[in-house]
Amino acid sequence: NQKLSETKPLAGQKALVSAGPTYEAIDPVRFIGNHSSGKMGYAIAAKLKELGATVTLISGPTALDAPKGVNRISVTSAAEMFENCQKHFSDSQICVMAAAVADYTVEEVAPFKIKKKDSSLTIPLKKTPDILATLGAVKTVQILVGFALETDHEEANATEKLKKKNLDFIVLNSLNDAGAGFQNNTNKITIIDKTLEKTVFPLKSKDEVATDICEKIVSIFADK
Ligand code: CTP
Ligand code: CA
Repeated sequence: NQKLSETKPLAGQKALVSAGPTYEAIDPVRFIGNHSSGKMGYAIAAKLKELGATVTLISGPTALDAPKGVNRISVTSAAEMFENCQKHFSDSQICVMAAAVADYTVEEVAPFKIKKKDSSLTIPLKKTPDILATLGAVKTVQILVGFALETDHEEANATEKLKKKNLDFIVLNSLNDAGAGFQNNTNKITIIDKTLEKTVFPLKSKDEVATDICEKIVSIFADK
């Protein structure tokens, strides 16, 4: 939508975006990670910038270049991502958490490389802080957007997350469709907002999906 970019509807607004995976160290050479490419979050950061916002992107490890004009802060672990998101949240008017944050991290990182020994190995894990839920609990004026990746009971699970995390809307990513998901350039999304209005979108490129998400943000912003 060329017109929307030209009018810069988000000029003067600060946006915070999280993107990419997190890596949780096991020992000096190993980690627990996931296949998130970061593309969706980066596309949203670029789009928000195009719409006039000042954008801070908190990014886990990815192969992507920072979008032009976006202030990228590179982090590795869920704990680091949490710290940086908290630091920038109170100052933001728009916050989109697109990162695939590890739900569990290693209880005690081994100081030396773990040696191969027994026939099985158990590594104790502990829960990471839920960044989005923490921000939802303290939010004031911010438009807060989350994602949900579900394989079953998609809409029910996404709606529960929307409510529990106090979001303005949630973007449900459908994995059930060929071409949608983590390492692809396309996504199939459904947006559910806090009035429980539901919009189903067709399979699109991640750039086009970013535009749909940002247009929803702009419309909420205009209504405020
Ligand atoms: N999220 C987060 N911090 C976490 C875990 C998730 O900020 N520690 C955010 C994600 O960035 C996403 C949303 O919460 O925007 C939902 O993530 P998801 O993994 O779908 O949900 P969870 O609440 O972690 O629940 P589960 O994995 O059990 O489905
Ligand atoms: Ca999770």
